Amino acid sequence: MRSESRGVLVTGASRGIGKEIARRFTDLGDIVISPSRDELDLASKESVSSFVANFDTEISILVNNAGINMVGSVDDYSSTDLENMIQTNLVSAFELSKLAVHSKGLKAICNVASIWSERSYPGRAVYSMTKSGLLGLTRGLAQDLGSRNVMVNAVSPGFIETEMTSANISQDRREELYKNIPLGRFGDPKGIANVVTFLCSSDNQYITGQNIIADGGFLS
Ligand code: NAI
Repeated sequence: MRSESRGVLVTGASRGIGKEIARRFTDLGDIVISPSRDELDLASKESVSSFVANFDTEISILVNNAGINMVGSVDDYSSTDLENMIQTNLVSAFELSKLAVHSKGLKAICNVASIWSERSYPGRAVYSMTKSGLLGLTRGLAQDLGSRNVMVNAVSPGFIETEMTSANISQDRREELYKNIPLGRFGDPKGIANVVTFLCSSDNQYITGQNIIADGGFLS
């Protein structure tokens, strides 16, 4: 544990990858702020603006982890679904980054993207669009914040054992996928949390503007 605690804002920390990220920062002695859906609904522009307007804590680290994946072909997408995906996965990350940039002591921002930011798959066009957008935000912010020595990176998980995975992947598909993952298994949320905490730590001295793919070798 370090002597100095950092204020860490993590979205989507109620379960899955976000829960592990929050737990890992807490174990390191940081003060984790993980708003509930009532306090911050990322799908709602009003909720995000009100959260930002009322937020008065110094942020050292921001982790934009929350995300949704509504699988469907472009034809199936209503404009409401499209807006919901863009708002939740991308616009909210932009707004919270803007909030973090105003914190004088900001040290790092980490965006949780996806392997589907680098490649896509049938039914993932909108998800890929939002996650690729997150990489653009990551690179642009790294450029803007480099002079302040703020590290801005993305982590792109492959298939990780969470509720999102169970909801989107059938058992048959899972067996198929194992054959295409060099490590032969899905990942553990803890493995993603380790990468995120490293990128946001003082041990990371020179990695910024990058997308770190943690996928058991799937995209290799
Ligand atoms: P999950 O579905 O288990 O958890 C998502 C979290 O986001 C939950 O805490 C949920 O409450 C929160 N959230 C969703 N919509 C919200 C909203 N409108 N307002 C506030 N919070 C909201 O997801 P999981 O699997 O832990 O994924 C976390 C991140 O990792 C997501 O961005 C996801 O796209 C990404 N990812 C996950 C992969 C996986 O295999 N599980 C693979 C690649 C990327």
